[in-house]
Amino acid sequence: MNVVQSIADVRRIRRESGGSWGLVPTMGFLHAGHVSLVERARRENDFVGVSIFVNPTQFGPTEDLAAYPRDLARDLQLLREAGADLVWTPPVEEVYPAGFQTYVTVEEVTKPLEGAARPTHFRGVATVVAKLFNVFQPDRAYFGQKDAQQAVVIRQMARDLNFPLEVVICPIVREADGLALSSRNVYLTPEQRTAAPVLNRALRAARTAWEAGERDGEHLRQIMRAVLDAEPLARPDYVSAADPVTLQELGDAGRGVLLSMAVRVGRARLIDNVLLVNG
Ligand code: PAJ
Repeated sequence: MNVVQSIADVRRIRRESGGSWGLVPTMGFLHAGHVSLVERARRENDFVGVSIFVNPTQFGPTEDLAAYPRDLARDLQLLREAGADLVWTPPVEEVYPAGFQTYVTVEEVTKPLEGAARPTHFRGVATVVAKLFNVFQPDRAYFGQKDAQQAVVIRQMARDLNFPLEVVICPIVREADGLALSSRNVYLTPEQRTAAPVLNRALRAARTAWEAGERDGEHLRQIMRAVLDAEPLARPDYVSAADPVTLQELGDAGRGVLLSMAVRVGRARLIDNVLLVNG
């Protein structure tokens, strides 16, 4: 496994290899969710590249950039075991040199949900992912359904800017009690950790109602809010039943719905979702 820091080294290794490449972008502090992406990429490509970069442009001024958890030695061990070929761990100046001033703005789908709570977040995500696509030039790029809106934004960007690659979205990996794996789960105290599966319980309650024929978007949101309200440590940021493509809130959820939420538990801001489609 090659571990490199410079763009020139990534480009050289990419150029000298004959075969297809899968790319898995990450911010490190890897868990089984990230590993599932690497394993999928491993199965579908001749070579697997992984980036580990805590991208400053996607954090707001009051967010956890400085505190974001890091453990490079452990990450590299996990990636070796999962069969990655190339890991890029650039310093910030390699990605954003002095004088940097070009950003990618995806418009409508970045406005609601996470975008409403974090106004500059997706500009940072789209910009760094566009740069990763240009540096690695992968045949396929792998992202998690865990960040449902991010997946929609990246698909839209890849289509709009004609990136010649396939965007592959992989299922959410969860703990046994339903909590979606996240690098930010380390912020939870034991008591908060016990409360955190309430997100998944709320989503499952709404899914059960949808599967039983409930098609009213507002009723689905109410079902989720009622479950969250019963957990005193959970402070909801938003609760959504939205169109899976446009991310606009739905009145009628008959043609499929993305149920999603952001909930503060202690100092962690947790997100989770479930995608319900007909057929
Ligand atoms: P990060 O939060 O490190 O996540 C990297 C990838 O792992 C994302 O595609 C995310 O959706 C996926 N992932 C995280 N938790 C998961 C889980 N429990 N199950 C399945 N997949 C999971 O997302 C980012 O980094 C950044 O925004 C990035 C795309 C790297 C751009 O900086």
